[in-house]
Amino acid sequence: MSLFRRKSLDQLINEADDSEKGLKRTLTAGALVALGIGAIIGAGLFVRTAAAAANNAGPSVTLGFIVAGIGCALAGLCYAEFSSMIPIAGSAYTYSYATMGELVAWIIGWDLVLEYAIGAATVSIAWSEYLNKLLAFFNLHIPYEWCHSPFEVLKDASGQVTAHGMMNIPALFIILILSLLLIRGMKESAFVNSIIVIAKVAIVLLFIVLGWSFINPANHTPFIPAASIYTDDQGVAHNFGGIMGILGAAGVVFFAFIGFDAVSTAAQEAKNPKKDMPIGILGSLVICTVLYILFSYVLTGIGSVEDFRKAGKEASVAYAIQTYMTGYGWLAKLVTVAILAGFSSVILVMLMGQSRVFYSMSRDGLVPKVFSDVHPKFRTPYKSNLIFFVFVGLFAAFVPGDIVGDMTSIGTLFAFMLVCAGVWIMRVKRPDLPRQFKTPMVPLVPILGILVCGAMIFGLGWTNWLRLGVWLVIGFVIYFGYSIRKSKLNNSGK
Ligand code: ALA
Repeated sequence: MSLFRRKSLDQLINEADDSEKGLKRTLTAGALVALGIGAIIGAGLFVRTAAAAANNAGPSVTLGFIVAGIGCALAGLCYAEFSSMIPIAGSAYTYSYATMGELVAWIIGWDLVLEYAIGAATVSIAWSEYLNKLLAFFNLHIPYEWCHSPFEVLKDASGQVTAHGMMNIPALFIILILSLLLIRGMKESAFVNSIIVIAKVAIVLLFIVLGWSFINPANHTPFIPAASIYTDDQGVAHNFGGIMGILGAAGVVFFAFIGFDAVSTAAQEAKNPKKDMPIGILGSLVICTVLYILFSYVLTGIGSVEDFRKAGKEASVAYAIQTYMTGYGWLAKLVTVAILAGFSSVILVMLMGQSRVFYSMSRDGLVPKVFSDVHPKFRTPYKSNLIFFVFVGLFAAFVPGDIVGDMTSIGTLFAFMLVCAGVWIMRVKRPDLPRQFKTPMVPLVPILGILVCGAMIFGLGWTNWLRLGVWLVIGFVIYFGYSIRKSKLNNSGK
């Protein structure tokens, strides 16, 4: 028995071919790019941009997007090589099982729960913010208590606490609806997703084009604020301004890029995975990066840092349009509706990614069999979807968006670093294996990927390092207490 026992590639590919019992192959390259954009543009752009401007970097959040985009492109090139080499479900988890052995695979699989499950919770909380905004257009609103976690308070202008959060019911609600949609089946979900993607991209473009003339140069000056400490209204201190501010902002808005790798979790459902996976991953990443840089530049030009700290803290994009873009009230409404739909598609892909990773881990015996039970009619891992509904729902209902958002970022950054390392290791150990897509300039690209992602982890600060550490310790306890004995590789004597 070895912690470094590996699955052979042949074994992996045979398992993927065992499609009688497995998942259906229905997705084309175009559907994969749509799936990618569906997963990428979401709360990161429409909620975390303003949070990073307020807490970390002011207008230089735009530079944070560039740093995060570079880190993702480097990791994305590594992901693309892996996914074209091992075209089966499970993403980074599966790749690392074949390359770095079971323990590292477990760490990544466990870590991906932060990315997908906790990420879905983060977006559902953002969904709840925009739902409130939508209701406000009709003079309705959900009481603060029922759309915020117990760790949040509402303060008035004088700093007096006027309400305490209890439970975020809208966030829980959207997780339920989308879990049910996923159970219904991939093809239908991909179709709904494609419609939403078009609406989402259209809104981003409209905001950039129409908002450009409302940029107030005063809001962009100084572009990089002087370094200081900013304590937000929940009492949390942040490094604001300077290089640390930009790195911190990069770590926060990195969330906006999460999801392009989720495409790789659908490899087992792609029609022609070897060719289509790299197109799906890199294509969606490039389109989004350009949009983000422009969008954040316009948003921080329209509203001030003070706006994003106070009145425009929630549903920031709709707030900025309503407050500063006179004559564009209709756009605020349209944006709100599109954002609600857009967030739904992000949550959908994340929940799907989560159930697929656990599907693979379960078939390997590392997590219980219930996670790979496929519905006899819908052919989806429905029990897993229901279990994750409960898990994600708890975070959505009871934890603040900033906390789950940063946990998602740090968990994903860590997984990216391991994937970068994996490509490099695999090139050295198995240069002979066929690769449809090759990461350029190995080992330079993987090393730079590790460094840039590491810098963003550094920028996220010690509370987040601690959360990641605690999560990994829990993972080790489960691995050494359960998975190591139940592993199919262990039981097949390999
Ligand atoms: N990238 C996704 C978002 O921004 C997770 O919501």
